Amino acid sequence: MMGDRHDAETFNNLLAAFGMARGKLQLPCVPDLEDYYLQKIMALADLLEKPLTPQQIEELDQKITHELARGFAASQHSQLVISFKPNTTLVERLEIEVTAQIASLEEFYEAALRDNFATDRDQLDNLETSVFGKHANARVLDLLPQLGGPQTTAILDIGAGSGRNALPLARMGYAVEAIELADIFCRQLQQQATQENLPLTVTQGNILDPLLRPQLNYYALAILSELLVHFRDPDQARLALSKAGDAVIKGGLVLFNIFLSRADYQPTIADRQVAQVAQSFFLTPGELDSVINGLPLEIIDQHSVFSYERDRLPAQAWPPSPWFINWSTGRLLFEIEPPPISLQWLLCRRC
Ligand SMILES: C[S@@+](CC[C@H](N)C(=O)[O-])C[C@H]1O[C@@H](n2cnc3c(N)ncnc32)[C@H](O)[C@@H]1O
Repeated sequence: MMGDRHDAETFNNLLAAFGMARGKLQLPCVPDLEDYYLQKIMALADLLEKPLTPQQIEELDQKITHELARGFAASQHSQLVISFKPNTTLVERLEIEVTAQIASLEEFYEAALRDNFATDRDQLDNLETSVFGKHANARVLDLLPQLGGPQTTAILDIGAGSGRNALPLARMGYAVEAIELADIFCRQLQQQATQENLPLTVTQGNILDPLLRPQLNYYALAILSELLVHFRDPDQARLALSKAGDAVIKGGLVLFNIFLSRADYQPTIADRQVAQVAQSFFLTPGELDSVINGLPLEIIDQHSVFSYERDRLPAQAWPPSPWFINWSTGRLLFEIEPPPISLQWLLCRRC
């Protein structure tokens, strides 16, 4: 119809020349998902009507492989950043840059706290929110009757976070030593300890650092709650448990939790990489045996963290965090029923 030629197709040439698309895609650095990521970028280029040439695809493929490996090796919190913008010389093409943005665990937590709970540094320092849960773990509280009285009993909390366990235990009068990697949590814990005059000592450090040695043969209980989920290989789990075992007195207790895979499940490389990215590092039952083997620790019991805490925490403290149910049951990662991994409490006695 004359005078009514405003359908977009008529102006394809104009849109190709003057229309622009620029943006950024951020994906976790999971090396085994390389093909999937490349497909995503190709689909995006198709959607923007600037399909990639075979040469672009080959170069991208190499760059993605390289950057994913570099990012993942440096930290499981790294992100693959894919930036795209118009190619200044060839309008029908996109210019694409790929780089791994490395982020430490501390940076990961600071960003998560800032994005979810606070807007500026001051607010961040004064956050009262307990990110991982406001109530002490039910499994921890249930062990207290087995320990000595609070005034004569020392407890070590490794990876204390925002003090879900360390603060209530110190308020009960136990001498608590908290070891924590992230500066932001150490500042919060210290501030709270000073304000309330609590018997809580805060040490900032990495339990995997060979120079960090908790006092030997001293504590009645060592707690490693949701710490091993941040680890990257079984040797790290063994090192942390070995230090915890050395720190408690003979007959003392070491309580930790870790994701374990089902005995009948064969984890893939992608499973293991994705689990690290999602704070769900796991061991197979056989790997757990090797980790404990030769340490002065005897496993006394094992419980599903999800069921144990759900059945015993006060109703107002359940779930401990919005993500806890999906995460602890393995459903955050796997759409398989039953999920192949789940978070388990393991209680050990020092022999
Ligand atoms: C998921 S949070 C759990 C915090 C606390 N244990 C709880 O259950 O609420 C794990 C904590 O361990 C700390 N962490 C991770 N790796 C660590 C390491 N190698 N040494 C000391 N702390 C570590 C993290 O910074 C984080 O605060």
